[in-house]
Amino acid sequence: MRSQIMKSGERENYGLLYQTPRCHPFVKWAGGKSQLMPQIIRLMPSKFGRYFEPFLGGGAVFFYIASSDRNTFLSDTNTDLINAYKVIRNHVEDLITILRYHQTEYNKSPIRYYYQLRDRTNSLNKIENAARFITLNKTCYNGLYRVNKNGSFNVPIGRYKNPLICDTDNLRKMSIVLRQSGSYLGVSDYKKILVEKADKGDFIYLDPPFYPISNTANFTSYTNNGFTFEDQKELAIIFKELTKRRCKVLLSNSNTDEIRRLYSDFSHLTEAAIVNRSINSIGSKRIGHKELLIRNYT
Ligand SMILES: C[S@@+](CC[C@H](N)C(=O)[O-])C[C@H]1O[C@@H](n2cnc3c(N)ncnc32)[C@H](O)[C@@H]1O
Repeated sequence: MRSQIMKSGERENYGLLYQTPRCHPFVKWAGGKSQLMPQIIRLMPSKFGRYFEPFLGGGAVFFYIASSDRNTFLSDTNTDLINAYKVIRNHVEDLITILRYHQTEYNKSPIRYYYQLRDRTNSLNKIENAARFITLNKTCYNGLYRVNKNGSFNVPIGRYKNPLICDTDNLRKMSIVLRQSGSYLGVSDYKKILVEKADKGDFIYLDPPFYPISNTANFTSYTNNGFTFEDQKELAIIFKELTKRRCKVLLSNSNTDEIRRLYSDFSHLTEAAIVNRSINSIGSKRIGHKELLIRNYT
């Protein structure tokens, strides 16, 4: 797909892209960008300096553009998610050992093992915590991440026949990519990292929790802090601030009048897209979710 989409002359800008192993997101994540990738790739700037993805989630865009000669800043507010990335980068073989154990035990008795693991929170080290996080993500309902007031994960088991809990090959490739790209990887609010670090010529992909399309499609809580319309307004202000700094910014969000209004200065640089969304409480609303891709460069 890459070679079809890349225009001649652009390859150079992607540096050592062809030397990095191909891998895909290790989590099923609400708002995951796999379906939108062809359109996102087409809209990416052909030249840029460092890469920022401050609403990281499964990191589909990062894994596409990762290369060993580019500095990247990867962050998210979800501490379990970022811990899992760090463990994949630094301790992948230990992680694989524990995931294989979870895979075996889950296969023996899925429901019993799922709830046993979900309710086990005390005294886990960071590698055990990452293995628990990945196992629950692969086996829970729709890959949803939801915690109660005490921060305990409370999503029920999903309906999977043979979920692949330990994708050894992909985890090893991810580990190489994360080590090669010399990335900053951390828990951070998007504002802090961008205000402190982003500079002229950097490319920033913003994929915030979506503003809901309708009252029933209000899935915006990936951590225990929701992302409100006030947060969306603040994000639009940051988008403008980054534009003044001459950063190249691409943002995805839902195709609603409210979001279009927030970015009306960039309407000539806004495109619509349609993707199938699986995280929705109403089955019939899972198809044809409309999204916007808004950028501040030509
Ligand atoms: C739409 S998802 C990103 C999906 C991602 N692009 C992918 O390919 O999977 C939004 C992410 O933003 C994170 N998030 C929510 N509020 C945040 C904040 N204030 N700062 C940084 N990250 C935040 C959530 O934890 C979630 O992982």
